[in-house]
Amino acid sequence: MTGGALQGKISVVTGGARGIGAAIAARLSADGATVIIADIDAQAATSQAVLLKNGSAMQIDIGSDASVVKFADFLKNEFGRCNILVNNAAILDMTGINELTMARYRHVLNINQDGAVRLTTALLPLLLADGPGARIVNISSIMGLRGQPNSVPYSMAKGAIANFTRSLAADLGHQGINVNAIAPGFIDTEMAQLPDGSGHEHETKEFLDIYLKYGRILLRRVGQPEDIAGPVSFLCSKDADYITGQVILVDGGVSATF
Ligand SMILES: NC(=O)c1ccc[n+]([C@@H]2O[C@H](COP(=O)([O-])OP(=O)(O)OC[C@H]3O[C@@H](n4cnc5c(N)ncnc54)[C@H](O)[C@@H]3O)[C@@H](O)[C@H]2O)c1
Repeated sequence: MTGGALQGKISVVTGGARGIGAAIAARLSADGATVIIADIDAQAATSQAVLLKNGSAMQIDIGSDASVVKFADFLKNEFGRCNILVNNAAILDMTGINELTMARYRHVLNINQDGAVRLTTALLPLLLADGPGARIVNISSIMGLRGQPNSVPYSMAKGAIANFTRSLAADLGHQGINVNAIAPGFIDTEMAQLPDGSGHEHETKEFLDIYLKYGRILLRRVGQPEDIAGPVSFLCSKDADYITGQVILVDGGVSATF
């Protein structure tokens, strides 16, 4: 969709400084929205925001109550409303259960799970400020719907985001706010870099064999951030007026077979 379908909409994209969030910010901006890139990396957020037609950047740590309150105050004073909130920011964690400490577990859940709840509740008055019509899109993951080695806190948080989406939709439906989630599959971003610095997860022989050669990804390619940005744009558009409480898998078909 092009040509200003989201004209005049004030949109917040967390983690919009790079990767999937940057593609979502670019797409919403191309759709006509005013986009606030909210990211812990202020410098990268500013660099991305200048590329947008109507963009700005604001630092936020979604893991911090104080930072989220500060962000909500900024948004209230600058814009007085929020029409679209995309809860995208998260960190990867690949700690195996034998090494997992409760401190690490709480750290991951505080950002990847509580961060979306923290920001959504803080922005709720602004999401209601224009009356019915606001949209919330949460970014979950196929890992929130399936198990995988070395992913207990990450997968738990992503599963929680899926059910946060359903329950939040139930709470907000009568106030005219649609809440949905996208669960991406394997997407080509910095998050997919291997922790030992040896390269990209998607370039390993094991990945190439299982997912591309033997076709666990039915479409035989890794996803690009734009593959996620399009469906997010759709969920924010009028065409999605009657869709709420859904977790939409955008994964090239990975979850369709076993
Ligand atoms: N890349 C994938 O294969 C994949 C697959 C499924 C789901 N996802 C999800 O998509 C979303 C985006 O992932 P990505 O691959 O673009 O990741 P990324 O690591 O490339 O980008 C994440 C962004 O979030 C920001 N961020 C991190 N912690 C933050 C915090 N506390 N407060 C504010 N901003 C913070 C980072 O600075 C960065 O700009 C995440 O929710 C991720 O879990 C990614």
